[in-house]
Amino acid sequence: MAVQSFLALVVTETEDQQFIREIKARTPQDLPAGEVLIRVKYSSLNYKDVLSAIGNKGVTKRYPHTPGIDAAGVVEESRSPEVKFGDEVIVTSYDLGMNTPGGFGQYIRVPGAWVVKLPQGLSLRESMIYGTAGFTGALSVYRLMTYGVTPDQGKILVSGATGGVGSIAVSILAQEGYQVTAVSGRESTRDYLLELGAQEIISTEAATDTSGRPLLGAQWAGAVDTVGGPLLATTIKSVQYGGAVTCCGNVASPDLPLSVYPFILRAVTLMGIDSQNCPRPTRVQVWQKLAGPWKLSHLDRLATETTLEGLDQQIDLILQRRHQGRTIVRLPE
Ligand SMILES: NC(=O)c1ccc[n+]([C@@H]2O[C@H](COP(=O)([O-])OP(=O)(O)OC[C@H]3O[C@@H](n4cnc5c(N)ncnc54)[C@H](OP(=O)(O)O)[C@@H]3O)[C@@H](O)[C@H]2O)c1
Repeated sequence: MAVQSFLALVVTETEDQQFIREIKARTPQDLPAGEVLIRVKYSSLNYKDVLSAIGNKGVTKRYPHTPGIDAAGVVEESRSPEVKFGDEVIVTSYDLGMNTPGGFGQYIRVPGAWVVKLPQGLSLRESMIYGTAGFTGALSVYRLMTYGVTPDQGKILVSGATGGVGSIAVSILAQEGYQVTAVSGRESTRDYLLELGAQEIISTEAATDTSGRPLLGAQWAGAVDTVGGPLLATTIKSVQYGGAVTCCGNVASPDLPLSVYPFILRAVTLMGIDSQNCPRPTRVQVWQKLAGPWKLSHLDRLATETTLEGLDQQIDLILQRRHQGRTIVRLPE
C-alpha cells in the first residue's frame, strides 16, 4: 500500500470523562478490516457526528474515535466485485463514523456492501452537500410520495426546516410543486427558508400545541418531522384525514406524547425513516433521484465548506443552534 500515514480528526476520552478533539496522524493499521479502501475527498457534518464528537455513548461506544458518518472519495484498493480502483464512490450511514472510523479522516476502509457508486450527474462535493441528512430528507419525501400524498391535497409541514434534513426536504418538496410550511425556532432564518421554496414559516411555539386536546384542526396533507417530542405530536394531531407524517429525528425529544385518536379517527399514518440500514435498492434509487430529477438548482447555496481544522467551530455552531443548511468537509489532498 502506498499510504503510510494520514490525517484524521480524533476524539479522545480523558480519565475524567472529558472528550477532546485533535487532528492526528493515523496509519492504515488503525483502520478495520474491510474490502474497500477509500481516499476520502469530502465528508459532511451531521447531527449524529456532533453527538459522536462530544462523547455520546449512544452513538459511539469506544474512543479514541474518528467521527464522520458520510464520505465521498476514490477507491484505492478493492476486493469487492461492486467497485474497482479509481471509482468515485459514496459511503453513508451503516456503522461508518459511529464505531467504525469515519469520513473525518483522509482514508476509510469499509465492507463492499456499504459502498455506492457516485451516480452520474453528481460530483463528489455535491454528494456530500446532500450527505446522510440530505439523503434522509429525500427518503422522507420519497416515502410521502410513494404513500400517495400529492401536491393538490394541501400543505406539507416540515419541522427543523433550517437543518440539514429539513433544508433538503423543503427544497425537494417545493421543487416538486408542494406548498411547504416550514417550522423554525429562529425569526432570523425567514429569508433562507423562503429562498429554499417554503411558502409559509411558522415558529416552533405556534407549531406546538399546549392544550392537550387529542385532535386539532386538520391543516396538513402530510409532514416531514425531524425533531420529535410535542411538536411531532401536535403535527400528527393536525394532519387531515388519510394524511401521512414521516419521523426521522429527535433533536427536540425522543418522546411522543400522543393518544391513538389521530390514527383511529383520521386514518393518519406515521412512517418511520431510517437511513442507516435503508435497503440497497431504495438507497440507490433515492441517490439517483438526487442526482437527476430532484437535483436542486440551489444545491451549492445550502453548503458551508470547512476543513478538518474548521470542524471544531462548526460542531459548536450546531450545538448552539446557530447553523443552517449543510456543512461539508474538504479533506486535505
Ligand atoms: N433516521 C435517520 O436515518 C436520520 C438520518 C439523519 C438525521 N436524523 C436525525 O434527524 C434530526 C435532524 O438532523 P439534521 O442533520 O437535520 O440536524 P440539524 O442540522 O442540527 O437541524 C436540526 C434543526 O432542528 C431545529 N431544532 C434544534 N433544536 C430544536 C428543538 N429543541 N426544538 C425544535 N427544533 C429544534 C433547528 O432549527 P431552528 O433552530 O431553525 O428551529 C435545527 O436547524 C436529528 O435528530 C438527526 O439525528 C435521522
